Parts: sequence; structure tokens; C-alpha cells
Amino acid sequence: MKALVLAGGSGTRLRPITHTSAKQLVPIANKPVLFYGLEAIAQAGITDVGIVVGDTADEIRQAVGDGSKFGVDVTYIPQHAPLGLAHAVLIARDFLGEDDFVMYLGDNFILGGISGLVEDFRADRPDARILLTKVADPTSFGVAELDADGRVVALEEKPVRPRSDLALVGVYLFSPAVHEAVRAIEPSWRGELEITHALQWLIDQRRDVRSTLISGYWKDTGNVTDVLEVNRSVLEGLEPTVEGVVDENSELIGRVRIEAGAQVTGSRIVGPAIIGSDSVVTDSYVGPFTSVSEDCRIRDSEIEYSIVLRGSSMTGVRRVEASLIGRNVEVTPAPRNPSAYRLVLGDHSKVQISS
Ligand code: G1P
Repeated sequence: MKALVLAGGSGTRLRPITHTSAKQLVPIANKPVLFYGLEAIAQAGITDVGIVVGDTADEIRQAVGDGSKFGVDVTYIPQHAPLGLAHAVLIARDFLGEDDFVMYLGDNFILGGISGLVEDFRADRPDARILLTKVADPTSFGVAELDADGRVVALEEKPVRPRSDLALVGVYLFSPAVHEAVRAIEPSWRGELEITHALQWLIDQRRDVRSTLISGYWKDTGNVTDVLEVNRSVLEGLEPTVEGVVDENSELIGRVRIEAGAQVTGSRIVGPAIIGSDSVVTDSYVGPFTSVSEDCRIRDSEIEYSIVLRGSSMTGVRRVEASLIGRNVEVTPAPRNPSAYRLVLGDHSKVQISS
């Protein structure tokens, strides 16, 4: 069995963060979301991994390398434009050969891994197995309709009027039967070859398409609210460790991880929270569910339920909440006079200001 990991796409919902970096590399508890997927694949005993890459190929290659740090062997498959998930299967034909495979969307996060699913698939070998989960708003997903026996009878991509609340999770298990399906379908209204249509084609051909309802936590980390929520859930399970330096005027409460080279001085950190390597926190409060990446500076500030990416600084600011702060960002207070906000914001930024 092989794995096909999709790490292309443009990540429009995470702009402006994804103007400059791949959505699959957004860190969750200071680790790229993609790495959790690769670890789950390795844990399921799969070593042959194809990664489909697009515009952000260099960044993905730099982060993942040859896969050896995950115990897998990575083959990169370039996709010249984001033409859909089924298109990714189409161009991965040579890599996939006649093997069964798991397709894993690199921005999806599944707590608990995929080992059980892969084991079941190896034992039953249906033509395809999809994962479903109940969601509040199915309109931004593929949606499945099941019959009374739980068989998949119809699938629809991003329906305006969903026929169920069962959304397709971004992990699919396929036999080589899918190759005929991806060749048979036409592009959708959004100009993409949809994997949902390929699955529907298999159903129409009376092939064996099964589903597993997962109740475990998962999110498509395609927007800021979801990223903060996944970060929260991963931090809940954080093992507290102090590898950096915490002075005697500081207080660490609950599950707090201070990574190597980090310095905490005169500050109060209430877990679960993580302070990345070589970051410096001085005279500040860092509240629950916060991940501060490496090389950040937080001075005389308060921050809670947020993610701060590499190389950013925050000085004299209180209080920041539910925020996703990109790389090399500077957050400072405005001078007292004139009483005005001074903003340098990238395209598609979102800022909330109390006035
Ligand atoms: C894709 C699939 C959709 C699925 C979702 C899960 O959507 O097309 O069926 O529910 O992934 O993450 P996209 O991320 O392309 O909007």
C-alpha cells in the first residue's frame, strides 16, 4: 500500500498567511499540520509516499526532505496548476502503479491517526473507502447520502442544499479501480477534476464504495478559526517540559512547554501553551492555548488563544486574543499623540480594532 499526500493548492481561506507560505505548513503546537499526517501514514506502516506539490513546492521540499525523518520514502509529484484532487490522482499514475493507496489531504488533521482504517482496508479491499464526519455547515465540503443500510448512494461537492450533514473527510482509501474513474470524469464548475465525482462514478458503476463515520476530532484546517481550534485540541495533550531557561520571577502553570534556547523572564505562562526555541518572553502574560513559534520576542504584552509564527515580535501590547500572527510580524502600540491607528497590512488582512 502507498500514500498520496496532497500539498498543493493556494490556501485562499488562510490569506494573508498563505500568500507567502504553504497552508500545509501552518504550525499546530509548533509543528506543521502536514507532519501530523506524515506521522500517521508512517504509523500505519506505509513507507512509499508520493507528495503532490504546486506553487509552494520548494517550501514543502525543504520542510519534508526525503521523508527519512518520518521513516518514509518520499517521491515529489509536481502539479502545474491546482486542477483538483482527481487530477492529482491522474498525474500520480506512474507512482501509484497497481497498488492500493491512501490519499491524504495535507491540510487535514485527524486525531488518533489512520492505522485502524488502513488495516481494515487491507483486510476487506473494497474499491474505495471514504471517511465521513458530521459537520454543522456541510456546504463547504463534499457531502454523502447514505441509504438505510449505511451504503453510500450519492455524493455531492459543496452542495447549496446538502442532503445530509455528513461531510467527506480529506482521507480516502482506494484500490486501482479509481484510475479508470479519474479518467472518465469531466471538470466541475470550478474547473477542477473532483475526487467526489470520481467516487460517484464508481458508485454509478456499482463498484464497492464503503464509508466509515468518524466521531474522533478532525478539522479541515482551511481557515483561521479551525487552525486555532486544532491548535487548542493538540495543546490539550501537551507534555510539559522546560528545555529553555525560566527565571525565578516567572511562573509556569499547567501544561507548558518551553523549547530549547527559549528564555522566560518575569512572566506568567498559563498552559496549555508552548514557547518555541530561541524565543524570548519578558514581563508578559501568555495565556492558555497559545503557540509561540521559534525566534519570537514578546515583551510587556499579553496574549491568549493565539498562534505566533516564526520571528515575530510583540511589545507593549495588551491584549491579543484569538489571533493568528504570521512570520516576522511586528506588533507595537501606537504613539499617544495623535490618537490614531497606524497600519501596514498585507492584501486580504483582517484586523479588529476596538474604538
Ligand atoms: C476537498 C474535497 C471535499 C472534502 C474536503 C475535505 O475540498 O473536494 O469533498 O470534503 O476537501 O477537506 P477543498 O479543500 O478542495 O475545498
